[in-house]
Amino acid sequence: MRTQVAIVGAGPAGLLLSHLLHLRGISSVVLEARGRDYVQKRVRAGVLEQGTVDTLVAAGAGERLLGEGMVHHGIELRFGGQGHRIAFERLVPGRAITVYGQQEVVKDLIAARLAAGGQILFGVSDVAPEGFDTPHPEVSFTRDTKRHTLHCDYIAGCDGFHGVCRDAIPAGVLKYFDREYPFGWIGVLAAVAPSTQELIYASNERGFALHSMRSPELSRFYLQVAADEDIAAWSDERIWAELRARLETVPGWQLSTGPVLEKGVTAMRSFVAEPMQFGRLFLAGDAAHIVPPTGAKGLNLAAFDVTILTEALAAWYSGGDRTLLDRYSAACLRRVWRVQQFSWWMTTLLHTFEHSDPYDRRLQQSYLDYVCGSDAASTSLAENYVGLGPP
Ligand code: FAD
Ligand code: DHB
Repeated sequence: MRTQVAIVGAGPAGLLLSHLLHLRGISSVVLEARGRDYVQKRVRAGVLEQGTVDTLVAAGAGERLLGEGMVHHGIELRFGGQGHRIAFERLVPGRAITVYGQQEVVKDLIAARLAAGGQILFGVSDVAPEGFDTPHPEVSFTRDTKRHTLHCDYIAGCDGFHGVCRDAIPAGVLKYFDREYPFGWIGVLAAVAPSTQELIYASNERGFALHSMRSPELSRFYLQVAADEDIAAWSDERIWAELRARLETVPGWQLSTGPVLEKGVTAMRSFVAEPMQFGRLFLAGDAAHIVPPTGAKGLNLAAFDVTILTEALAAWYSGGDRTLLDRYSAACLRRVWRVQQFSWWMTTLLHTFEHSDPYDRRLQQSYLDYVCGSDAASTSLAENYVGLGPP
């Protein structure tokens, strides 16, 4: 088998890269460890920046997104018994976010790839990227008990945080930067109309809570819990009671409840691998960096990386110019670190730290107050949240 770019991973990064390359006349094959059904049902992110929406629409994968996505012009920060709206239309005019489930993005991209004759091999195992320090890289893998080799010019490691591509780079090349948080999130999908028009980020003594949504009939919630929390300890009744306790803190505001469709625990971490390339292997998305989900940035950053990689590969294939390929990592890392800082900051601002001393708690309260009371501070939050412009 031969292709121009071998892509490992059919998450948002790998699928979008494959489609953007196709639109530039560059061939690729996507190798995915899981089945199609599994990747299409994996419930994760929900907030798309304008830049991500624009990229998906320009790639021809935005029809359903434009019809079903919910455009939001603000979010609420809820603390101290009050809601405080961060009004995008006033603070960052013309910029907004779209609430649309990641699994819907994945479905749309898979459909677009297959309609264009794209090759996605689901259910492969023992994927091994090799020879990327030579002009002839290859990726070997097992499919239907047979071993295959995919020869290529370049390999894109889009295989998420637990993938194999990052670890295939020789020891000592990459530098790692990371931060663990002493808590995780329970994510809940429920068949109930949202009790709010916009997302609510609630800071509470009992822990952080987030009210998001997927459609007029589906709500999405997150609860701060211990990092090693066992989901089996969270009955649906306990989840609703805790959401109520953390969200019903504003006079007259009530949470509607309904059947829980899905629930699970997510770890929180910050992580960056530098550089995001070695020889002919390029890392993109969660394979190269992770942010805690509080700022809603991971998927958006994955989309950003692959647009940069597409431009770089297109420049090389159209005229043999390596400049953008050589600069890939540097071009991505500038945005990566901005998003790292914003996500760490949102996380620190809104979560309850069990062992924080009273001084830290007061600093947190003061900053919350400042963010909501000062246009300068809330504009900073707003412009990072809706997403900074092109690089
Ligand atoms: P992934 O989605 O992880 O895809 C990697 C793919 O590679 C997977 O399909 C995996 O099966 C496959 N793979 C792994 N190993 C191998 C292998 N060895 N061989 C072949 N295939 C392999 N981001 C936002 O922007 N906004 C949000 O609102 C948001 N909320 C989030 C909420 C939660 C609860 C979580 C968990 C994450 C959230 N994120 C959010 C982050 C976002 O989901 C990720 O950043 C995003 O999925 C990254 O995409 P990716 O394609 O890089 O990686
Ligand atoms: C969602 C997830 C997030 O991490 C976030 O900050 C906002 C919304 C969501 O899944 O809807």
